[in-house]
Amino acid sequence: MLPESLPRPAAITPDAYATRRTALMARLPADAAVIMPGASLVTRSKDSEFAFRQNSDFHYLTGIVEPDALLLLLPGRDAGEAVVFCQDRDPLWEAWTGRRLGAAGMVAEHGVDEAFENAERESQLAALLEGREQLYVAFDDPEAMALAEQTYAAATGGRRGLPPVSGFHDVSPLIHAMRQRKTPDELALMRHAGEISARAHSRIMRACRPGLFEYQLQAELEHEFVWQGGSGPAYSTIVGGGANACVLHYVENSAPLNDGDLVLIDAGAEFDLYAGDITRTFPVSGRFTAPQRELYDVVLKALENAVAAIGPGATLNGIHQNVVRDMTAGLIELGLLSGSVDERVADSSYRRFYLHATSHWLGLDVHDVGNYRRADGTPLPLEPGMVLTVEPGLYIPDAEDIPEAYRATGIRIEDDVAVTADGHEVLTAGVPKQAADIEALMANQ
Ligand code: GLY
Ligand code: MN
Ligand code: MN
Repeated sequence: MLPESLPRPAAITPDAYATRRTALMARLPADAAVIMPGASLVTRSKDSEFAFRQNSDFHYLTGIVEPDALLLLLPGRDAGEAVVFCQDRDPLWEAWTGRRLGAAGMVAEHGVDEAFENAERESQLAALLEGREQLYVAFDDPEAMALAEQTYAAATGGRRGLPPVSGFHDVSPLIHAMRQRKTPDELALMRHAGEISARAHSRIMRACRPGLFEYQLQAELEHEFVWQGGSGPAYSTIVGGGANACVLHYVENSAPLNDGDLVLIDAGAEFDLYAGDITRTFPVSGRFTAPQRELYDVVLKALENAVAAIGPGATLNGIHQNVVRDMTAGLIELGLLSGSVDERVADSSYRRFYLHATSHWLGLDVHDVGNYRRADGTPLPLEPGMVLTVEPGLYIPDAEDIPEAYRATGIRIEDDVAVTADGHEVLTAGVPKQAADIEALMANQ
């Protein structure tokens, strides 16, 4: 039987993209120009390419899905502030690689003010950049920097000489601060990415049994992502059975799944470029052993306490400190650490078992953009619209000083959480995480 199809949420409208461009330009001086290239196709091998993935900042400001586009934002320009260069219309290329919107299509479908095809870049750029002394470019994007420098040199070279370096500014912090606070239309897409991801995880809980290979669970997950209209995984899917769960970014997914082991799955769908990011850990056979359950419940309790505390004013740093304390208390209770919670937190010995941060921002990128601290170095307080993950994990080494029943066990549980005006919304609640609920789902299939 084919899986059920979920309704698709509304796409972000051209007007919404225009509102973002206007908000960005409102923060720029009158003589500014933003120069932002979109992504290009990347060769996979010989003449085949990786699937196209638009640059997230470019997407955020335009919604344009074609490669090799360039956005100029020119505040105050009478003939139009948002100008796009795009692939040339070319019937022969379009017969091979698909329809290109061309300049007229970019204006009609994406609501930019003016568009040119790339063949006109050289002849148009000089005039467009006339009088623009402050160039805003993504400093962490070498291609964007090179293009901006060449563009500016070409535009100004013969007439005014090269600009002083002080004329270049990093546009990224301005855009990333906007991206950090999601609007309701973005949250609808993220809710959908979370829901698809949760359905995929539920699906593999039902499918799992000893003797399957890790890649077969990956195939089940990714089928659901694409079936529901996602582009695929938002990052490389991790399916780690047994000791493989202790490798944080295990992506080989090649081993058989063994009776008696846990399997850790970290996978999320990308939908309209927004990421879901879920981890669940469950027994291959459908039943936790008692020691597995003891460890599992330490992680689960830390996650539940952390999520309960999320709301405006909380900080990622505070969430992490509480998770560290909860997990350290659990490790002491199980005899994996000794002494007091304060002592073991102070000497960082918990890090033998929990070595990563609890949260990261989530959005168009799985490890999304945005500051974690304010300019004065203090942790940034959460605000409505921010979306974060909560992902405590315990990774118990295969070491002689560890009770055998706990050795080589990796457990992580991860949910995606949006901050709301009065608390939070868990975007990935659709897949169980209580041990008893997981066992019930796996038993009923
Ligand atoms: N899958 C990457 C992460 O959870 O951060
Ligand atoms: Mn994550
Ligand atoms: Mn993850």
